[in-house]
Amino acid sequence: MSEQEKQNTVEEPLVEVRHLKKYFDAGKGRKLHAVDDVSFRIRKGKTMGVVGESGCGKSTLGRMLVHLESVTDGQIFFHGQDITHPSSRELKKIRQQVRIIFQDPYSSLDPRKTITQTMQEPLFYMGHHSKEEIEVRTSQLMDMVGIDQRIRLAYPHELDGGRRQRVGMGRALAPNPEFIVCDEPVSALDVSIQAQVLNLLMDLQDQYGLTYLFITHDLSVVKHISHDICVMYLGQLVETSPSKELFRQPLHPYTKALLSAVPSLDIDHKAERIMLKGEITSPINPKPGCRFAQRCPFATEACAKEQKLEEVSKDHYVACCRVREING
Ligand SMILES: Nc1ncnc2c1ncn2[C@@H]1O[C@H](COP(=O)(O)OP(=O)(O)O)[C@@H](O)[C@H]1O
Ligand SMILES: [Mg+2]
Repeated sequence: MSEQEKQNTVEEPLVEVRHLKKYFDAGKGRKLHAVDDVSFRIRKGKTMGVVGESGCGKSTLGRMLVHLESVTDGQIFFHGQDITHPSSRELKKIRQQVRIIFQDPYSSLDPRKTITQTMQEPLFYMGHHSKEEIEVRTSQLMDMVGIDQRIRLAYPHELDGGRRQRVGMGRALAPNPEFIVCDEPVSALDVSIQAQVLNLLMDLQDQYGLTYLFITHDLSVVKHISHDICVMYLGQLVETSPSKELFRQPLHPYTKALLSAVPSLDIDHKAERIMLKGEITSPINPKPGCRFAQRCPFATEACAKEQKLEEVSKDHYVACCRVREING
């Protein structure tokens, strides 16, 4: 094996998506391009943040990764293996290794089940644990996510939002997964509770080497938890880079606008708030070219051609043909 090959092996990502697409049928032969040619890699034990406005395809992307949504085109790799179209046996295994935490734990938890039953369910589904083992594991899970053993028989409606989200996390963690998609896990929580849940997610990552895809519309939430960030706009990635670099030097006009709207962030190149004007392009049969152009203060005719992610500085990719002029 050559030096280069050795390095590639060491750096093999845990999760990789290549040219992933999800088109929904929008009637009359039209297609809604919810996720449109998205590629990225997530390193083992790290967090990839996915940021973008509501409706840009974040949840659809996450749901494809956990096989709650079928894939229109492209590939998903886990441990270097193509898991895009698993057999039912493979799917059962994937459902243990790859888990999801939802935004609203109230609607994602079964109101008729106690929180213990909810957390145990994935263990029963696996089918190879004794009752005793499941009891022991449940106690462990409650400790891991910080739920008092005394409320093990409580129902979801008896808990506050923060505890409900902890139950959702316990359920995700039950089969000892390697990768968790966190779909806006703190967006429905009070700000004071948000920090607790984020800290818990980070502690669990440290302790168990977990890998996360962390979805949010709120850049300030993703800043501390993410090692790398993808910025999504209408189904496509417009910028991706290590998190620190993105906050230090956002390069795409959309990322700049998103960052300028977060008042509390002390980025080095703090610009004035950029107000976005113009219509949002429809995701139904979108024209080729930059989907942000209609709202972009820097748009020219050149933006009508297809924009590809291009490495502008080390590991920092931007899909904008004017990126150098704008940031020059
Ligand atoms: N099951 C579905 N059928 C048709 N369209 C959908 C479906 N799910 C999502 N969409 C559309 O796909 C786009 C992306 O949605 P979503 O992934 O939920 O975005 P986000 O999570 O970023 O808010 C939206 O235009 C949404 O209306
Ligand atoms: Mg969503």
